[in-house]
Amino acid sequence: MKKLLFAVPKGRILDELNPLFERAGIIPEKDFFNGSSRKIIFSTNLKNLEIIKVRSFDVATFVKFGGADLGVCGFDVLEEFSSNEIFPVLDLKIGKCRLSLAGKTNSLSNNQDHSSLKSNSHIRIATKYPSLAHRHFANLGIQAETIKLNGAIEIAPQLGLCDFIVDLVSSGKTLEENNMIELQKILDVTSHLIVNRASFKISNHEINQIIHSFDAAI
Ligand code: PRP
Repeated sequence: MKKLLFAVPKGRILDELNPLFERAGIIPEKDFFNGSSRKIIFSTNLKNLEIIKVRSFDVATFVKFGGADLGVCGFDVLEEFSSNEIFPVLDLKIGKCRLSLAGKTNSLSNNQDHSSLKSNSHIRIATKYPSLAHRHFANLGIQAETIKLNGAIEIAPQLGLCDFIVDLVSSGKTLEENNMIELQKILDVTSHLIVNRASFKISNHEINQIIHSFDAAI
């Protein structure tokens, strides 16, 4: 029988995800917890389940194309992909943060409403989420030009690329240390268990078992 492949994001979220895996009865091999290991694919105590550790956006890509059957992915990434091939099946209630519009401290007043933003006929935004940002501002009747960056978004306004950014905010420290302020929350974000549409049909029983064990673990 084909093994199921579960994609998880590298980085901070793993600290919150590891206890969930444990409570769900999924124990990855030792190397999974070794930060200096260069392995990408890991076996688990379940003989029909392997885990891959990849970047958060790549979790969605692997699941979308069926390379991975399941994954853990932020609601931010899900909204950016907005793919029919990806089923979000369970809110894991970890990785809580928000996706927000931010500007330079001197750009605009905090808590501004849409109408004051709207007075900017054309706003330019640096973000990892070009489609989400474009869609969000189009819904508000604001024309937004987006510049795609993959990290260090907060530096873009200082370097003259744009006036605003759309990025994740958790503690707010990154914005503060880069002289920026949060202007509007766009989305509340938590991590979700996601499943590839075709895999869900083909391996329905096995995948449902995994969903139930995560549900019980939350
Ligand atoms: C995220 C996000 C912000 C920061 C916000 O970056 O893109 O830069 O965290 O967190 P804070 O409000 O607690 O300061 P991450 O650390 O994931 O790295 P990245 O820039 O490579 O995406």
